Amino acid sequence: SALRTPLIVGNWKMNLNHREAAQFMQQLAWILRDGRFDPSACEIAILPPFTSIHSVQVLVQADKLSICYGAQTVSVTSQGAFTGDVSADMLSALGCTYVLVGHSERRRYHSDDDANLVDQVRATLAAGMQPILCVGEGYEERREGIELDYAVGQVDDITRDLSEEDARKLIIAYEPVWAIGTGLVATPQSAQDAAHAIRTHLERTYSADLAAQARILYGGSVTSANALTLLTQARDMDGFLIGGASLEAEEFSAIIQQI
Ligand code: G3P
Repeated sequence: SALRTPLIVGNWKMNLNHREAAQFMQQLAWILRDGRFDPSACEIAILPPFTSIHSVQVLVQADKLSICYGAQTVSVTSQGAFTGDVSADMLSALGCTYVLVGHSERRRYHSDDDANLVDQVRATLAAGMQPILCVGEGYEERREGIELDYAVGQVDDITRDLSEEDARKLIIAYEPVWAIGTGLVATPQSAQDAAHAIRTHLERTYSADLAAQARILYGGSVTSANALTLLTQARDMDGFLIGGASLEAEEFSAIIQQI
C-alpha cells in the first residue's frame, strides 16, 4: 500500500560475530550501491546479536547507509544489578531503531511471558525505539483451525493496555511457528488472512487510521524465491522478518531488490 513503506527486517538470531557482521555490511553496501535499490521504496533493518550491533553501527555511519538496525530482545529494567541484561537506553545509545519483542524462540527458551513482553514494549518505547512484536500460531493451532484467533489473541495480550499513541509505533510480525526455519512457507492466502485479521483487530481496538498505517510483516522461511509472490499477493502484508535468508548479503539483497 502507498500508505505504508515496505519494511524488510533481517533477524540474525545467534549468528554473525562482530567481524562477520562488518563483512556482511560491507558486502551489502556494495551490492546495494551497484544494484537496483531505491532507498525510498523500502526500509531495511538488521537485528544482530548484541555483540555485533556496534559493528553494524560503524558501517552504517561510515558509508551513510540508509539501513536501520536494532536488537532481538531487551531488558525490562533500566539499569543496575541485573547480570546479563542489556537496557533499552544502551540500545538507543547505539543508534538502534527497533527491538524485536516476543519472538517464538524467546517465548520458548526464556522467560519471555506476556507480562514480561508488555514491559519490553514499554521499555522500548520509553527509550524512543519501535517494538516489532512477534505473534503466530504453532502447528497444533493451525491443525485445529484456530490460527487467526490465536495470533490476534497474542496481539491483544500485549497491546491491551497500550495507548493509541504508543500503538502507532508498534510493528507486528506474523510468524507461524511451524514456518520458522522449516522451509514450509505460509501460502500468500494464509499470510494475507493473518495480516488482515490483525489489521481488523487494530481497527476495532484503536482506529481506522491507526490500522491503515500499521505495518504488518510476515516471517517464516522467506527466501528470494518466494518473497515477491508473498508481497504482491498478500496485500495487508508490508514486508518480512527474515531469519536464515538474512545471513548472507547476496541472498538478503536479492530479496530487497525485488521490492
Ligand atoms: O525472525 C525470523 C525467523 O524466525 C524466521 O526464520 O529462518 O524461517 O526465515 P526463517
